[in-house]
Amino acid sequence: MLTYLQVATYEELSRKGADIIREVITSKPQCVLGLATGSTPIGIYDNLISDYQAGKVDFSSVVTFNLDEYAGLDGENEQSYRYFMDHHLFNHVNINKEQNTNVPDGMAFDLMVEGICYDTLIESFGGIDLQLLGIGLDGHIGFNEPDDCFTKETHPVTLDESTIEANARFFERKEDVPTKAITMGMGSIMAAKQILLVANGEKKKAILEKALNGPITPRVPASILQLHPNVTVIYSEV
Ligand code: F6R
Repeated sequence: MLTYLQVATYEELSRKGADIIREVITSKPQCVLGLATGSTPIGIYDNLISDYQAGKVDFSSVVTFNLDEYAGLDGENEQSYRYFMDHHLFNHVNINKEQNTNVPDGMAFDLMVEGICYDTLIESFGGIDLQLLGIGLDGHIGFNEPDDCFTKETHPVTLDESTIEANARFFERKEDVPTKAITMGMGSIMAAKQILLVANGEKKKAILEKALNGPITPRVPASILQLHPNVTVIYSEV
C-alpha cells in the first residue's frame, strides 16, 4: 500500500518525516533503521536531533544501516557518507555510534565481499524496520542506477553522469566526485517492513510521478516500490 502525502513546505516534510521515524523508535526501541544521505533528509535529521534534545526520543538501542557509500573515501573524508551521518545525526544523539551504526565500507579491498557481509549483518538484526529513501533525478534509490535488471544484493556500482552532476554540488570540483560507490541492493530495501521516501522540489516531480505511477522497470529503479506493501511518500514542491 502506498500513502502519498503532499505537503506545502520542506519544513513540513521534515517534521512529518521525523514524526514517522520517531513513532517507529517509540514503538520498538531496538528498531533497525535504514538511513539515507543527500540533501533531502537533512531536515528530518535536524528535527530528530531537536526531539532528542527535548527528551522525546531515545536512540540508545537503535541500530542503523545506511544505504550507500562512495568507493575510495574513508569515514574521515568530509565527502564520505559516514562523515555526513556522523555530523548530521549520530554525533548529536545518544546512539551507540561505534556498535550500532553501519555504513558500507567504501575502502573495502573487495566491494563485492563487503556487500555480502553487509547483507548478512542486516539479516542478523532481523532486517530493516523502516527504510528512509530519497530519489535521484534518474529514479535511483540508494545508488541503484537505471539498469537492465534490479540487483538484489549490496553491490559495487558505477555512478551515472547525471548522478555525478547532481552530487557535484557537495564537492569543490565535479572531477572530485567519485565515479564508483557501493549500495544496498533492492533485496534489503524491499524487505524493509516500512519505507519512507522523501522528495523535495519541482525538479523531482516528474521522476516521482514516473516511479509511482509508471511501469515497474529497472530503468526507473524507484518504480519497484510499487510492489512494496507499506510505502509512505512525502513530497513538497518548495
Ligand atoms: C543517498 C542516496 C541517494 C539520494 C538521492 C537523492 O544516500 O541514497 O539515492 O537519496 O540521490 O538525493 P537528494 O536528497 O540530495 O536529492
